[in-house]
Amino acid sequence: MWRPPRRLPRPPHRGTATTTAGPGRLLLSTPIFYANGPPHIGHLYSALLADALLRHRRLRAAGPARLCTGMDEHGLKIQQAAVAAGTSPAELCERVSGLFHRALAQAGVSFTHFTRTSEPGHQRAVRHFWAALRDRGALYKGCYEGWYCTPEESFLPESQLRERTDTQGRPCKVSVETGHEVHWTKEENYMFRLSAFRDPLQNWLRDNPRAISPSPFYQCVLRWLDDDLPDLSVSRERSRLQWGIPVPSDSTQTIYVWVDALVNYLSVVGYPESHGAWWPSVHHVVGKDILKFHALYWPALLLAAGLAPPERILVHSHWTVHGQKMSKSLGNVVDPATCMGQYGVDGFRYFLLRQGVPERDCDYYDEKVVKLLNSELADALGGLLNRSTAPSINPSNTYPCFSEPCFPRVLDSKEAKGTGKASAEDYELVAAVASLPAQVSGYFENFQIYKALERIAQCVKQTNSFFQRHKPWKLDRRDTAEQLWLDTILHVTLECLRVYGTLLQPVVPDMADKLLSRLAVGPGERGLSGLTFLARYDGKPCPFEGRQLGPDTGVLFQRLEKSEAVKSRKQEARVPDKQLL
Ligand code: MSP
Repeated sequence: MWRPPRRLPRPPHRGTATTTAGPGRLLLSTPIFYANGPPHIGHLYSALLADALLRHRRLRAAGPARLCTGMDEHGLKIQQAAVAAGTSPAELCERVSGLFHRALAQAGVSFTHFTRTSEPGHQRAVRHFWAALRDRGALYKGCYEGWYCTPEESFLPESQLRERTDTQGRPCKVSVETGHEVHWTKEENYMFRLSAFRDPLQNWLRDNPRAISPSPFYQCVLRWLDDDLPDLSVSRERSRLQWGIPVPSDSTQTIYVWVDALVNYLSVVGYPESHGAWWPSVHHVVGKDILKFHALYWPALLLAAGLAPPERILVHSHWTVHGQKMSKSLGNVVDPATCMGQYGVDGFRYFLLRQGVPERDCDYYDEKVVKLLNSELADALGGLLNRSTAPSINPSNTYPCFSEPCFPRVLDSKEAKGTGKASAEDYELVAAVASLPAQVSGYFENFQIYKALERIAQCVKQTNSFFQRHKPWKLDRRDTAEQLWLDTILHVTLECLRVYGTLLQPVVPDMADKLLSRLAVGPGERGLSGLTFLARYDGKPCPFEGRQLGPDTGVLFQRLEKSEAVKSRKQEARVPDKQLL
């Protein structure tokens, strides 16, 4: 019986040089998208999560980082979609990859690499990877028969099937998970000895409890490993599948599209020559539907080829629309370009990242977007900026000064009432905002971007209460004592806004830029490592005090008209052929 090589590459342990704890490199990835249809908001969500992680890491100046994305162009699915569209697979891929490239760029996804699996460089990497598997004895040829699901590009065991009747009333079998029909398929394939990797995978996961996040998905993978793993069919007969990479030295077989696709994570960093500079400092962002491929097959394939598994797999759940799965047949697929047109790029980024909770499916509907953006971006954040910088309240248009006697470091006791005007709630606000950057970083590290945004939104609300409580518009600038307190209120508010603007950069880059520019925060003052808050309160100089504020006094986020947004979405839905292909 074949056994995996005894000296497997050691998977990374926390705290070693291969982790991102130090100033090391990090490769972030999105899944590569199937080139059989236009992008929808689910695809965009995968990409935005990875983009926000990259941007946050760059703000921390934590070391070189890349973000790779791209297109999964081979396989039966694409071959059949091309036939249905009356075109060639190559032409279909060219068109669809253009759509994805544009949609991601429009959404501000700052990818550094866009791989297409039809590219020669990628194909060379796949052939090399295949040869590594073969030379290490991880492949054998066997006759394989079973139920094949083309949309999932997988053979499925009986346990994952259920009986149904097809459109003509004939009994058929479908995948429990996706509802797609399966067909009995018998062919000679190359098999990968996945079964031999159950122990190594279990060990890898036990040694690396943060390898898969959030934890319910980690537990789910461990449960899969309680059962035996069947060997995996990793090629298809060429007569059935021509649109793919031929197996090296066996032109009757095509390499299984998932092996081909997964290797994009290596080809993008120069495998087989120069991947060592990045591998295995890799974080894959993936949807829950492709967890098995990333958490079982991919690490096993890597180990078999003599490489370490990825450092982390960050898993998210799905978006439904009005409670239903998004699907072309239901006609409820939400087009990201329409949404970005309606809500603005940053508005839509904010919505998806604020409302998307990786642990559970989230439901999309327009009214929810309008309500959230109006309340948190237009009213709370935009309103606060507007009110605290209004000419009536800040006629000199400068970053106002902080008065230590008005806001001493220690709250005046009731007995010894000093010059301080701040109340207990104001001290709570200062403590909350002072601890916010560390909290936000912790949430990003834990792949809980929605929690980071929730926390920021809570602080914005607290700052609005602070502003409202002290009613600075009622203070009289001609009275010296009142003027000191008025400026202090404004100073504290702008300091809070500066922190929010800095922390929001990974999620709403353009809006954050507008906010920070209005507050006269220079390009070199927007990072996380040097982020200060209320330096004067700590007895240190504040570099912003007295600065002229930025000239753009425009609205930070335009309030959305509920009826307009919803109306235009309903009109969209009535356009029958909103096919982008
Ligand atoms: N081509 C494979 C990935 C290969 S990676 C080596 C694939 N492509 S996909 O286009 O179908 O999906 C790409 C990503 O979009 C996946 O992370 C998937 O989970 C995500 N989404 C697809 N539909 C989704 C929702 N409805 N909601 C959220 N994300 C979803 O799988």
